[in-house]
Formats: sequence, C-alpha cells, structure tokens
Amino acid sequence: MTDMSADTISVPAQWRAQHPTTPHLTGLLDYHTLYKESIHFPSTFWAKQARELLSFTQDFHTTSIGSLENGDNAWFVGGGLNACFNCVDRHAIQDPHRAALIYEPDDPADGSRIITYGELLRHVSRLAGVLRGRGVKKGDIVTIYMPMIPEAVMAVLACARIGAVHSVVFAGFSAEALGDRIQDANSAVVITTDEGRRGGRTISTKRVVDEAARECPQVTTVLVYKRTGADIPWMAGRDLWWDEEMKQYPAYTPPEVMDSEDYLFLLYTSGSTGKPKGVFHSTAGYLLGAAVTGKYVFDIHPQDRFFCSGDIGWITGHTYVVYAPLALGCTSIIFEGTPTYPSHTRFWEIVQKHACTHFYGAPTAFRLLKRSIAKENLQNIDTSQLRVLGSVGEPIAPEVWKWYYDFMGNENAVVTDTYWQTETGSHIIAACAGVTPMKPGSATLPCLGIDLAIIDPVTGEELKGNQVEGVLAIKQPWPSMARTIRGNHDRYMDSYFNVYKGYYFTGDAAFRDQDGYYWIRGRVDDVVNVSGHRLSTSEIEGAIIEHPGVAEAAIIGVPDELTGQAINAIVSLKNDQTPETTAKELVIKVRTTIGPFAAPKKVLVVRDLPKTRSGKIVRRILRKALTGENEFGDTSTLADPSVLDEILEAVASS
Ligand code: WT7
Repeated sequence: MTDMSADTISVPAQWRAQHPTTPHLTGLLDYHTLYKESIHFPSTFWAKQARELLSFTQDFHTTSIGSLENGDNAWFVGGGLNACFNCVDRHAIQDPHRAALIYEPDDPADGSRIITYGELLRHVSRLAGVLRGRGVKKGDIVTIYMPMIPEAVMAVLACARIGAVHSVVFAGFSAEALGDRIQDANSAVVITTDEGRRGGRTISTKRVVDEAARECPQVTTVLVYKRTGADIPWMAGRDLWWDEEMKQYPAYTPPEVMDSEDYLFLLYTSGSTGKPKGVFHSTAGYLLGAAVTGKYVFDIHPQDRFFCSGDIGWITGHTYVVYAPLALGCTSIIFEGTPTYPSHTRFWEIVQKHACTHFYGAPTAFRLLKRSIAKENLQNIDTSQLRVLGSVGEPIAPEVWKWYYDFMGNENAVVTDTYWQTETGSHIIAACAGVTPMKPGSATLPCLGIDLAIIDPVTGEELKGNQVEGVLAIKQPWPSMARTIRGNHDRYMDSYFNVYKGYYFTGDAAFRDQDGYYWIRGRVDDVVNVSGHRLSTSEIEGAIIEHPGVAEAAIIGVPDELTGQAINAIVSLKNDQTPETTAKELVIKVRTTIGPFAAPKKVLVVRDLPKTRSGKIVRRILRKALTGENEFGDTSTLADPSVLDEILEAVASS
C-alpha cells in the first residue's frame, strides 16, 4: 500500500506520542501480519486470541468446527467459561476499586454515579440470586425492557452469571412488539423499571410491560427497578421491587460454568421478510469477537473511559456498552439521555466530564448536531482526552466524517467507521485505531479473521482484485457469528448461507477501491435503515394492511437528509374511507404495532398502486416516483399505466 489515493488521512503524528500507555498495534505492518495469520492460519490465530483475552475454567480442545456451507459452526469446542466472570470477577479480583460503569443520567443536574468492579460484582451476584429465586435456570430466556441505566447492564450480566439467556428489547418498542418477543422467547421473567427518562420526557416502561404481559400467560415475574418513583399499577405476586428483592440475596453468587457454545443472548432484528428474527449468539465466540475488536479496532486499555452512545436494546449496546469494554476491564459510560438534551453540546459535555478516551456514535446524530453546532459552542469544552472516535449503523458521508473528526476530535483523535451487523456480533470492517490510514466515507479494511468477498449479484461469482463492486459476503467462519435464529434454523440458512453457497451473505452492497478499502453502499434487500434503526418494509406493510380501511400498501425507504432513510407509505383505501383520517390512523397503527421509530414520515393515499398484470406491486417505480426521478424505465408491464400520473401528482402535492 504505497500509493494511497489522495483522499487518505494519515494518523495524526501526535497520536502515538500522546498515547497514555502503548497502543496495542505498533503500525500498519502489525495489522497486516496479524491479518495474514488470521486468514491463513485461523485456528492458530483464534486459539491464541481466545487464551489471551478470555479466562476459561476449562480449556477448549478444538478451536473450530463446521462450515459456512452447512451453517454448523462451533468455536472453542469443549471449553468452559462464564461471560460475567470474564466481564466482572476477574477485574474485581485484580482491582476492585476501578470504575466499571459511570452512569450519566438524562438530566445532568441529577449528577452521575460511579459503580466500581467490586460493587458491580456484588450487585450482579444479588440479582443473580433474585433470578434464581424466581425459578430462572440455565438456558431460560429472561426478557429485559429497560432504559439506559446501570441496572440494565446488571440485568444482562446477572443472566450471564447463572447461564440464563438474555433477550433485551429496546425500550422504544410498543407493547405489541414487546409481547411478541416475550412470547417467542417464552420468558417467564421480565425485568423493567417503573418509568424511564429520555430527553426530558418520561417513558412508561412498566405500563408497556403490563400491556405486553397480558398476552403472555407464562410471565410469572416482573422485576421492577424504581427509576422515577412514579405511581404505577401493581400485580401482587407477579410484580417485585428490585431493591427489596436484592436485599434478600447474598452479595456473592458463584458463576455457572457454561459451554463455549451455550447461548449467551437472543436479540431480535428485522429481516427482509416476515416477523423479526431472534438471533442467538454463543458465549465464547461472541465474547471473543467483542474483546478482539475492542482491543484492535478501538485500542481499549484498562485505564480507558469508553463512551458508546448506542442503546443496550441494539447490538451496538450489547457489544460496545457491555461486553467489549467490560471484558477488557475499562470503564463504560452509561448514558441515559439523548444528544440534544438539555442542549446540543451534551455529548461534548459528557466527554469532558468523564474525561472519555473513546466516543462511539451514529451518523444520524452527527448530521443533526452538524446542523446546530458552531465551533464557538465548543470553545470552552475540553475533550482532549479523546483518542478514538467510532461511527456505526450506516454509511457516514465524507463531509460528516470530516465534521466529526474536526468537531469531536479536534483532529487529534482517529476516526474508525465500523461496519457490522447484529448477526456478525462484532466489527467486520473498520480501521484499527492509530494504525490504519483513514479515508472519509470508507469503513477501510477487514477486521482480523474476516475474509471478505465481493460477489457479482448476477453471476454469483466472486469478483477478485480491486476496483470491484457487488454484494458483500464473508468466506470464512468467525467466532462471533450468530449461531441460529430461534425456532427457525431454516430461515437462518436461507437468509445467510443459501444465497451464495459457501459464503455468509451480508445483504449489503460494497465497492472495493484501488487500495483494497471497502465502501459500503447500503442494503440490497428490503431492509431500510432509519436513524440507524433497522426496519423491514414488509413488516411495516404487514402492520398497515391490518387496518380495515386499507386495500393495498407499499412501504418505501427514501433517502433523508437527517435520518439516512425515511419511511414512506403509499396506500390505496377501500371505498368508504376518508384519506386524511386513515393516514393518521396508519401512523398510529405502526407506532402501536412496532414502535414510534418505525412510523411513516409520509403517508400518500392514491387510487391504486402500480401493479403488474398478475397483481404484483412494482416497488421500483414507486421508489423512483418518491425520489423525484423522472425516468421510470419500462412501464408497459403495468396493468394500468395511468396510475403513475396520479402518484406523481400525489407526490408533488405532498
Ligand atoms: C446494517 C446492520 C452494527 C450495529 C448497528 C446496526 C448497516 C451498519 C454500517 C457502517 C455502512 C452500516 C448495514 C448493515 N451498517 N454499520 N459503518 N457503514 N452501513 O446493526 O441493525 O444489525 O444493521 O446496518 O446495512 O447490514 P443492524
């Protein structure tokens, strides 16, 4: 890589000099050496990493078995370990007074709270006791519906401690969506709060759980952490107060030894079709993916204060709020609020207040902040401890990248744009902090052990060499890949492994440039990305179609300046409907079926949708109409081409 193209930004000269300790990688050559080893001798590489970064109580006898073709991968076979022990005990033993979590509440006036590794061990032990006391056993799935508070992290770790599988549901999901997930997971225990606070507003978590649990007769316990002290409905026998229960259990509970391949957690995500899928992640492989990427991508050291602004309800929060920072023994910042409350400089203030060394966020927030913040607003805020800035969730436009580099990091911190997915468990493509030369807009190079392929979508052949574009796939198994979809292994095979035999299919398109750098182009399936939230168009269509007044509906993701993509609904109604009222009802319908974040930004009511003679909705044409493209291509296949003019009119007047 001698002739890097002009758009490259090298690691700032002072980065190494100002490093508080010693970076994990000494230079790009280090990365290349490790990368080559990881691809050519994966067993040697991963076995070494696992033994170095994780503590096993029973060593594994086989590094990996299985293939992408058969979807039967297993890692560190025969090993025994506990994820909570790895994230809590071993640091508590070594250095009990080190901060594990720093809680930054929604309202800064409420003051922050530090929880040391020693304290975390006691809290998690007690909570593990509470769960056991309510009958939770190894392998049971516990549903967690909580705001971003330290107790949410404790809930996750307490499950891991006793070998229960956690299923965290984002606290923005509706009662119906939560109920579906509790039901699918067959959870008897749900952990929540009385209420939550976000951006100065109240979220009624307990009320949502109550409503969801009405449809879930197997729920015997709702454990409630008192966050606001509000008056809430109570079901005696089923509902329990966290604080009262905790007191009754000892401050040490031994961790359960788990098999490497036992499931650590379940997390629901949207697919291109049908219901959300519950993805299972393994204990050892997942945890190693978190630790390895935390170490090499983020260059995490135990002294660091790592601020990931992602929510624990999504994979970003699982891997980079909980597992990576804690497995590596640093301090993780738990931020309850939003980037704009009480003001647009909140992120900077938190970074200053806790002397954060890392910040990890999403382009959707950066775009919003970029609009509202001037350099002067940041003049008196000291963020000089920042060493690494991460971006995640969607492509970051070069001008947003440069803004982030400048406004957040003062061109002192490096930026790593991390490409990955719920199913990959940890980063797939990302710059290794301090060694990889950066290119604004590119996720840069593959992570250790990740063997990428660009495939021609038409021929299904792999495109070798550089300057190629196609669908992105992975051609070697890696430890943190999801192991199955709960109750539907067939769907797992069809979604990821049967699309191109021998490859893991990501669902994204990508370009590999002349330097071997990857540029993610976006999804090639019916998955849309709104503010970093992954949504399925067919799932939203499903919700809308349930409205009795709707004849037909299509959901289209259209580019949006702020949210990346926005949801537009195009519907035709049954005869007796008033368009305005129905449009409003449809927005409410999506909010209650899925959650507010999935609600259409626009609902267009039309007489009829463009369809083929066989009745199939032609989404391609709708997408073009909605994005203002005038070139529709061949419209002769439409049953009634005149609907097109009406749609264009509706778009114009919307
Ligand atoms: C999809 C996965 C991984 C945590 C957050 C989202 C898109 C994710 C990037 C990035 C371009 C990205 C992809 C991917 N995506 N990160 N850095 N650059 N696109 O997890 O909900 O499982 O969504 O998010 O389209 O397939 P997720």
